[in-house]
Amino acid sequence: MTAAPIRFLTGITTTGTPHLGNYVGAIRPAVQASRRPGTENFYFLADYHALIKCDEPARIQRSTLEIAACWLAAGLDPERVFFYRQSDIPEIPELTWLLTCVTGKGLLNRAHAYKAAVDKNTASNTDPDADVTAGLFMYPVLMAADILMFKAHKIPVGRDQVQHIEMARDIAQSFNHLYGEHFVLPEAAIDESVAMLPGLDGRKMSKSYDNIIALFAPREQIRKQIAGIVTDSRAPGEPKEVEGSALFQIYQAFASEEETDSLRKAYASGISWGDAKQLLFERIDREIAPMREQYEALLANPAQLENILRAGADKARALATPFIGELRHAVGLRNLAAGAATQRKAKGGKAAMPSFKQYRETDGRHYFKLVDATGRLLAQSAGFESPQEAGRAIAQLKQAGLNGSTASLQLADGVAAGDIAAALAALSQG
Ligand code: TRP
Repeated sequence: MTAAPIRFLTGITTTGTPHLGNYVGAIRPAVQASRRPGTENFYFLADYHALIKCDEPARIQRSTLEIAACWLAAGLDPERVFFYRQSDIPEIPELTWLLTCVTGKGLLNRAHAYKAAVDKNTASNTDPDADVTAGLFMYPVLMAADILMFKAHKIPVGRDQVQHIEMARDIAQSFNHLYGEHFVLPEAAIDESVAMLPGLDGRKMSKSYDNIIALFAPREQIRKQIAGIVTDSRAPGEPKEVEGSALFQIYQAFASEEETDSLRKAYASGISWGDAKQLLFERIDREIAPMREQYEALLANPAQLENILRAGADKARALATPFIGELRHAVGLRNLAAGAATQRKAKGGKAAMPSFKQYRETDGRHYFKLVDATGRLLAQSAGFESPQEAGRAIAQLKQAGLNGSTASLQLADGVAAGDIAAALAALSQG
């Protein structure tokens, strides 16, 4: 038996254009990770999250296009992973509400991004909530829904996101405690080996510092930007320090160990900054140029990208739709016609998306069985002459419940009539 795969999931907010820091810190490691055996990988464009930060529709659309193209150009295989756009999954905002109702307001008060906004207002003597939207306040709940919807185990994120993962875990626990064990408790996965990439000015490469090199900027622009990386004033021939050299660190993020070593030696023997910058440009270009071609081809064909994302959404919704049905049932959003039959134990969630299976035995007769969402046998019918008869018995069971059924059903070991009733109720609702 092989172990169940570990699920990794991460979201990319669709504001801005991908830069070298995003590539080195997130895209490249994620594409590599997506090829590991024994894992399932979910990467999605967090465009609902983008609305919290950005109210320019054209920018949201453009950024979504560029980021999607960028991940595919970097080698992400949409057949192999779940690659989708958050706003294509209506179950996510639906789950957000279910989670909102079990989330303490106090928990959200403590979220770093919200607190920072409030602290800033307080410091400047304005209303503490000035310019703070409810979207910003609710950010961690939407993010919890992203994660919990797909029962992800590991969430690769930067350190700034760790608190959000802990909140998702807290929210999952609250829900599980109230309604049964529906959610997997997620954990942050921080890759220590991924270096923080410095930007042109030596600080962390970040759009907010305006020190980025866009991943797919035209070659000549990249060359110019590299020429602008800060260095010290040592002249050609003077030995140079690798310590604290942004140029060296960026080179290291792209180069092999041998290449890095040889640049280290060149620094010691006084390579000129101009030559070092040329080496860096060539090294980056070697990695980026083949991807740039694919990136441009994708941008020129947005309909193809749209199709890829829609196919990804179908794949993701095949998991999300039945799961939200289970969760709706768990909290009591149920089919009223099945009302009396829905007495269930708190932990009865497992039976929530059951199914009937019809088959023929070697005795030539036709049977059906009822199994729960995990495939566990709940009940087994006696034999019927024809598949039509078996089908009618199933229809009658679904309509009239166990008591209204004339079929003789044998319940599996440890299964009570109430379990069957709950299973039928869940089914009639879906
Ligand atoms: N908040 C994340 C960021 O800014 C993006 C994100 C949204 C995300 N939903 C997520 C990351 C779910 C991991 C899991 O980086």
